[in-house]
Amino acid sequence: MKLQIINGPNLNLLGTREKDIYGDQNFNEYFKKLQLNFKNIELHYFQSNIEGELINKIQDIGFDFDGIIINAAAYTHTSVGIGDAIRSISSPVVEVHISNTYSREEFRHKSFLSAHVKGVILGFGLRSYDLAISSFID
Ligand code: DQA
Repeated sequence: MKLQIINGPNLNLLGTREKDIYGDQNFNEYFKKLQLNFKNIELHYFQSNIEGELINKIQDIGFDFDGIIINAAAYTHTSVGIGDAIRSISSPVVEVHISNTYSREEFRHKSFLSAHVKGVILGFGLRSYDLAISSFID
């Protein structure tokens, strides 16, 4: 099974950025743990701060991979383009968030992705990614 994790803007700063909300782990380190925990899954990771690059990635792999796990970060709340890209592909997509966006500012309650994904996992810290990967295993 081939799964792609896609992280959006500022998630390259995990471990440094707003630690009280996002924790003190760097995503590259966490990704190594995920690869160890899910040895039977071919896990790929892509991060970009640029909306169009996220859309290009979704289009590039979205007809080939068994699943996509996406944290579009701030673009979740603004991007019709990412929502449309998800609608346009055949790979199932799970939306994740590290924090519980519903317990935060009102503008974080709206997602332009959620209507087009298989499911949403949020609020479990980095473990949200772990849970999202598990959701693809029977
Ligand atoms: C986030 C929540 C978003 O509202 C925020 O803009 C992020 C991270 C999360 O994982 O909790 O950058 O997607």
